[in-house]
Amino acid sequence: MNIAIMGFGTVGTGAYEVAKTAYDINVKRILARHGREGYENLKDIITNDIEDIIRDKDIDVVIESMGGIEPARTYVLACLNAGKHVVTPNKNMLSAHFEELTETAAQNGVELRFTSTAGGGIPWLFNLMRTKRCDTITEVRGIVNGTCNYILDSMYDKGADFAEMLKIAQDLGYAEADPSSDIEGTDTLCKTVISANIAFDALLKEKDIPCYGIDTIEAKDISYLKNKGYTCKLLMNAKLSDGKIKAWVEPVACPSTSLEANVKANNNIITLVGESIGTQSFYGQGAGMLPTGESVIQDVIDIRDGTKMRYPAKQNNKYTAGECDEVRRYYIRHNKLCERIMSLVDTYEEKDGVFYCMSKPVTVIQMHNTGNHCKEKASPMFFAAIMD
Ligand SMILES: NC(=O)c1ccc[n+]([C@@H]2O[C@H](COP(=O)([O-])OP(=O)(O)OC[C@H]3O[C@@H](n4cnc5c(N)ncnc54)[C@H](OP(=O)(O)O)[C@@H]3O)[C@@H](O)[C@H]2O)c1
Repeated sequence: MNIAIMGFGTVGTGAYEVAKTAYDINVKRILARHGREGYENLKDIITNDIEDIIRDKDIDVVIESMGGIEPARTYVLACLNAGKHVVTPNKNMLSAHFEELTETAAQNGVELRFTSTAGGGIPWLFNLMRTKRCDTITEVRGIVNGTCNYILDSMYDKGADFAEMLKIAQDLGYAEADPSSDIEGTDTLCKTVISANIAFDALLKEKDIPCYGIDTIEAKDISYLKNKGYTCKLLMNAKLSDGKIKAWVEPVACPSTSLEANVKANNNIITLVGESIGTQSFYGQGAGMLPTGESVIQDVIDIRDGTKMRYPAKQNNKYTAGECDEVRRYYIRHNKLCERIMSLVDTYEEKDGVFYCMSKPVTVIQMHNTGNHCKEKASPMFFAAIMD
C-alpha cells in the first residue's frame, strides 16, 4: 500500500520510521516545506505541492501530521474528497471540525482514523471504539495531558513551584514555548471532545464542555492537599446521566490510593466504563515521536487490512450535551472570601492571609463559573474537585 505523509516533524518522522518496519507499507510522498537533517535520501519523494499527493491515484492513505487547524483541515478534506483514507494525530483540527471531517469521510466511503489524537501511543481510542461495538459506554475519564501530569507530579514530589516546574517541562521538550493549551486545559478539552464523541456516538463541540486548567495552581495547594491525603491531577470527565452527556475538564484532588494519584511523570491513564465490560484503564506514554508514530501506522495497517470503525453521524447521534449539573465538593484556595465564593463554602481555615476552603456540594458549572469570574476580575483562585 502506498501512503503519503503531510508534515515531516516529530510525528511525521516517527510514522516514517515505524512504516519502514511494517509489512507492505510504502511511503511514496512527503509534504514538507524543507528537507530534514538525516533524511537527505528522501529528496526525490519530498514535495511542497499538495497537488502531488491529491492527484496521485496510487496513494491510498494520507497521514496528516502538520498540526494546527489550517491548512491541515483544507488538505484533509481535499484528500477525503479525492477518495483517499486519512490518518491524523491532529486533535485540534479534529476537535474543532469533528462533524465536518467524519461526515466527509463517510460521504466518500473512506476511513478517517485518529487513534493517536488522545493518548498518543496508547491504543485508547482504538479500544474505546472496539468496546463500543457491542457494549454501552457509560463513562470515560482520565489523565490525558502528560505535560500537566509531569508538572503536578514534580510539584508533589519536590514541593517546587508551578513556574519552576513548567520551565523544566519546557527544557525537557514536554511543554511548548507557549504552554497555554496544556496548562489552561484546552489540550485535555480537545481529547475530551474526541473521546466523548466516540464513547457516546455524539457530536459534542468544545463549547459544550466546561474547562478549568491548572494555570492558577501554587505549591501551597499541592502541599495543603498532600497533608490531607490527596494528589492533584488534571482530569477529563464525560458520562451519561439522565439521557444526556455531561462532560468537563478540571483539576481533581485524588485520594493517594487511587490509580490516578499514582500516575507518575508524563504518563497518562485513561479509563472507560462499559455496561458489560465494567471498568478498564489504559496506561502509558501519551506522546513522543515513536509511540505516536506507531499509533499512526497501526491505523494505516487497520485500513489496509479492512478493519472498519463506525463513527458518530447525525443519523445515529443518540445523545446530546446536557448542563454539567453533577454535584461535587471542591477544595478552593483564594486570598479573599468574597460573597460569591462564600456562597459555595462549607468550612475554611486561614493561614498567612490565604483561605483554604472546603465547599458545600455544588455543581460543576457553578464552580467553573465562579472560577472563571475570579479570573475575569484578575483575582484568580484555584479549585480542585474532591474525588470520592
Ligand atoms: N508530538 C507528539 O508527541 C504528538 C502526540 C500526539 C499528537 N500530536 C499531534 O500531531 C500533530 C503534529 O505534531 P508534531 O509534534 O509532529 O509537530 P511538529 O514537530 O511541529 O511537526 C509539524 C511539521 O509539519 C510541518 N508543516 C506545518 N505546516 C506545513 C505546511 N503547510 N506544509 C508542509 N509542512 C508543514 C512543519 O514544518 P516546518 O518545520 O516548516 O514548520 C513541521 O515539520 C499535532 O497536531 C500534534 O498535536 C503530537
